[in-house]
Amino acid sequence: MPMGKRYAVFGTPISHSQSPRIHAAFARQTGIELDYVSIEAGHDDFAAKLAASGAQGANVTLPLKEDAFALCRETSERARRAGAVNTLIRDGDGWRGDNTDGLGLVRDLTERHGLDLRERRVLLLGAGGAARGVAPALLDAGISALFVVNRTPERADALADAMGEPGRVHARGWDALPALGEFDLLVNATSATRGGALPPLPMALAGLRSAAVDLSYGEAAVAFLAWARAAGCTHAMDGLGMLVEQAAESFLLWHGVRPETDPVYAALNGQGDALVTAD
Ligand code: ATR
Repeated sequence: MPMGKRYAVFGTPISHSQSPRIHAAFARQTGIELDYVSIEAGHDDFAAKLAASGAQGANVTLPLKEDAFALCRETSERARRAGAVNTLIRDGDGWRGDNTDGLGLVRDLTERHGLDLRERRVLLLGAGGAARGVAPALLDAGISALFVVNRTPERADALADAMGEPGRVHARGWDALPALGEFDLLVNATSATRGGALPPLPMALAGLRSAAVDLSYGEAAVAFLAWARAAGCTHAMDGLGMLVEQAAESFLLWHGVRPETDPVYAALNGQGDALVTAD
């Protein structure tokens, strides 16, 4: 495989990542030849492994999105608003950074699941890199209010301040949850459920008109989505759709072609065969 065709995803842990399968499926669909691999890296060795990879482009996941932001020579406006980069594009001997997570989430919610986000009251649980990645796009989609609730209230304050919209974005600590009333959309952007431990959430946060989405997928999303269904949410979705959509946006940035996401999503979700088709 020529060096010019190499792409990679960096993070820890990375062995469970679906990104290589997704990009391989996009490549087959569009007839673009590429090699996309996953590379385990942490804060200490990310820059060195990225340089050694020979990649033309890279995705970056936990816990490296801020590290990726810091090493870019140039960043997009949406990456700057998020303070995090999930897509690196080679630029000579340096990198340009973008963030497709927020657009990926909004596309999944509005186009795949048919939700209208305009004038919606939204609860964002968590204020780390994942939350920062999606908050700007939710605001751009026209929601009426964003409540950022975090175990460490100072991080919620920092995220709300960074959005620069004090009338629409409100920061709270976890103990404020019982007083917040019902939300139209609840987004779990904490890493709590990856360890299986979901902090207690009042049932009154959700109702029959509510939708819930966990930015994690698979096993890590089970606890929050079980709570959401028990609380009455009509829609309860994991982050698989967002993952496929953000990947398609990265693919577009690298290759200039936007692949079809539905067959790839269906295959990952066990409803299709697009990913098992041999090359
Ligand atoms: P990520 O990139 O996934 O957002 P992160 O930046 O480490 O990772 O942020 C993890 C988020 O999950 C934070 O909002 C964190 O809350 P704190 O800022 O208070 O640490 C949240 N989180 C992790 N474990 C949690 C738990 N057991 N209960 C509540 N929130 C938790």
